[in-house]
This record gives sequence, structure tokens and C-alpha cells, in this order.
Amino acid sequence: MRTVKVDIAERSYQIVIDQHLLMNVGEQVQAFLKKGNKVALLVSKTVKKLYSDRVVRSLITSGYEVDMFLVPSGEENKNLTTVSKLYDELIENSYDRSCAIIALGGGIVGDVSGFVSSSLFRGLPFIQLPTTLLSQVDSSVGGKVGVNHSQGKNLIGAFYQPKVVLIDPTVLKTLEIRELICGYGEILKYGFIRDASFLQTCLDNKNSIISLKDMELISEIIRRSVEIKAEMVSEDEQEAGFRMLLNFGHTIGHAIEKSCGYGKFLHGEAVILGMCAALKISMEKLGLDSVKGKSAIDSLCKIKLGHDLSTLDIDKAMIALMHDKKIRDGKLNFVLLKDIGSPVIVNDITPEMVRETLLWLKERYKNGAGS
Ligand SMILES: NC(=O)c1ccc[n+]([C@@H]2O[C@H](COP(=O)([O-])OP(=O)(O)OC[C@H]3O[C@@H](n4cnc5c(N)ncnc54)[C@H](O)[C@@H]3O)[C@@H](O)[C@H]2O)c1
Repeated sequence: MRTVKVDIAERSYQIVIDQHLLMNVGEQVQAFLKKGNKVALLVSKTVKKLYSDRVVRSLITSGYEVDMFLVPSGEENKNLTTVSKLYDELIENSYDRSCAIIALGGGIVGDVSGFVSSSLFRGLPFIQLPTTLLSQVDSSVGGKVGVNHSQGKNLIGAFYQPKVVLIDPTVLKTLEIRELICGYGEILKYGFIRDASFLQTCLDNKNSIISLKDMELISEIIRRSVEIKAEMVSEDEQEAGFRMLLNFGHTIGHAIEKSCGYGKFLHGEAVILGMCAALKISMEKLGLDSVKGKSAIDSLCKIKLGHDLSTLDIDKAMIALMHDKKIRDGKLNFVLLKDIGSPVIVNDITPEMVRETLLWLKERYKNGAGS
């Protein structure tokens, strides 16, 4: 068993990583919820079929009353309509402040469930059981919860920390390869911004990670990823500065995701494209060593994505970028690298430079994986 602490005063919590942990999840939950309390398990259809039985059994054995509620899959359903439907269902089922919400699923289930937990009855205890690689290394940690607005991703939300994050890496075995690649993208992000040697390990072991060949290695990579995230969240819970570095690759990534239509590029795929763009701008603007920069771009470009970029509408992407949450005082905040592991926030990148970079990216990815 591996544990990492997110250290934020009375909101501190543990992230527990252990193979087959879901079988005994009830025991882990006992430290946070009184026996006999009602628990709402929020889950996607796919994860319900695969993993809800073992979780429900374990929770009931540990003395909880469990109801299950479905969260529809897909970025297009991560919205206030879904949240409102969940409020209705929980209220109709007599949920109150003595109850808790457990999210079992990927980042969408986690973000939606967390937002419902933060707002229903002014806050219910919330536990994360992330089941995708991306949610295990990133979205379940740090307390950013929320939903999309038609004008942009994650525009509605809160900072609301879970009581605990319980990670069972064995559930990754049923994930589609494309989803594993998304998680791999976020793992590389941690290396780029914080740990060059971790980045190298992850690049050297790409095939082993994506094929889940070595569960010990995967568990350790998850641990190091959440350790980096926990450090950054512990220092800057509400993203006043330091935590913003976690947005490396996300500014252009979000713009691509939104302008291409949610669902075309998955979040992690868009982040991989965004990191390529940020590395290019880092070389031009900050003098990131071109050998290191180009080699990193080549490694990212070799990662197979679900789509090519031939239909990217650059005007639409620029509009999406201007609606990004990362605009402060009318300026675009970009996370760039002075060196691998040395990020900085830069706010004077011109729209022309972004446009040129998008054209370059579109050309590189016109046939799928970047050439
Ligand atoms: N809150 C944060 O800090 C944060 C950080 C990064 C990303 N996000 C958000 O996370 C979301 C993406 O999350 P995601 O990549 O986990 O995608 P997702 O939640 O859409 O899950 C992907 C798909 O995999 C299925 N699935 C989940 N676990 C499975 C398993 N073990 N086996 C088989 N299928 C499984 C799901 O049902 C879903 O269809 C985005 O909305 C993004 O904005 C949030």
C-alpha cells in the first residue's frame, strides 16, 4: 500500500494506492463515515457494470445503506442539467446532511459528483474512487470540482476537497487504450513541470505503462504523480499562483478540445497537443534548449491520438482561447518551460504567436500522430 498526504490544514486528506483496494473499500470508508449512514454511489454506466458490485458489497458489509445513481458519460453531459437531475434524485431519496457521496469512475463522474457534494445541503462528505488513469493521477486529487458551460470547460465549479481518495490500479485493466494514453499525457505533464528524471522514466517506459505490463511500476508512477500534485495543491489550494503550473499544456489543449467539439479529442489527448504547443512557444519565447525541446516534442508526437488535426478551425480555437478561465486582467496566462522541470507563468504571449503555433501544430498532426 502506498499513501500520499494532501496537507491543507483541516481539509487535509490521504490518497491511498493499493491493488485490489476496491474489494475492501467499506473498511477504508469507516474512518470517515458513521456506520448505518446512507451513501450515494455515483457511477457511469460502464463502471457500474464492471465494478459497482464489489464496491456495494463491501460498503454494505461495513454497515452502510447504499443507493446507486448514474452519471451520464461524455463531456457533453458534464453540465448543470446532469447536476440538477442528481439533486432531484438525491432529494427524492431522502438524502440529507448525514449522508455521503462516493464517486466511482473517471474524471467526469468525479468532477460532477464533487460539485453536487459541494453544493447540495451546503456540502456533503465526499469520497473519490477514481477508475481511469487520468482520474487516478490527476482529477481526483486537489478538490477542483465542477461542470462545463456552453462558453467553456469547467467554468462552473468549486474547490471542495474529498475526505479521502482511494486508488485501485487493477481497475485500469478494463480501460480502452485511448483512455490510458490520456492518463499518460497527464503523467508526462508532472515530469515536464517538476521532475526531469521522472519524465525520462515515463518516456523510457511508455509501452510498459500504456499496456499496464507492470502493475508495481504503474502503482509507483501513480504515487509519484499524485505526490507532485499534492505538493502543489498543499502549497496553493485555490490556484492563486503556484498551482497554476499544473495547467501546463492546458491553455491550448482546452481551446482545441472545445473548438473541435467535446468528445472528438479526449481531455488528455488535447493536453498532449497543448504540451507540444507550449514546448514550441517555450523554445521561441523563453529560450528552452532546442535539443531538449525538439526531443520532447518528438516524443509527444509519437503518442497515438484518436484523431488528426486536419479539421482544426484555427479561428474557432482562438475564440475558445479568449474565453479560457486562465485569462486574468485581459491577458492570457501561459505555463511555459525555461527548462524541463522549471516552469514559469508568462502573460504576454500575443494572439499572433498562438495562431502561428496552432498552424504549426495542425500541420504536424494533419495525418494523425505528429510527423
Ligand atoms: N478536477 C480536476 O482537477 C481535473 C483534472 C483533469 C481532468 N479533469 C476532468 O476529467 C475529465 C476526464 O476524465 P477521464 O479522462 O477520466 O474521462 P471520463 O470520466 O470520461 O472516463 C472515460 C470513460 O471511461 C469509462 N471508464 C472509467 N473507468 C473505467 C474502467 N476502469 N474500465 C473501463 N471503462 C472505464 C467511463 O465510463 C467513460 O466512458 C474531463 O472532464 C476533465 O475536465 C478534471
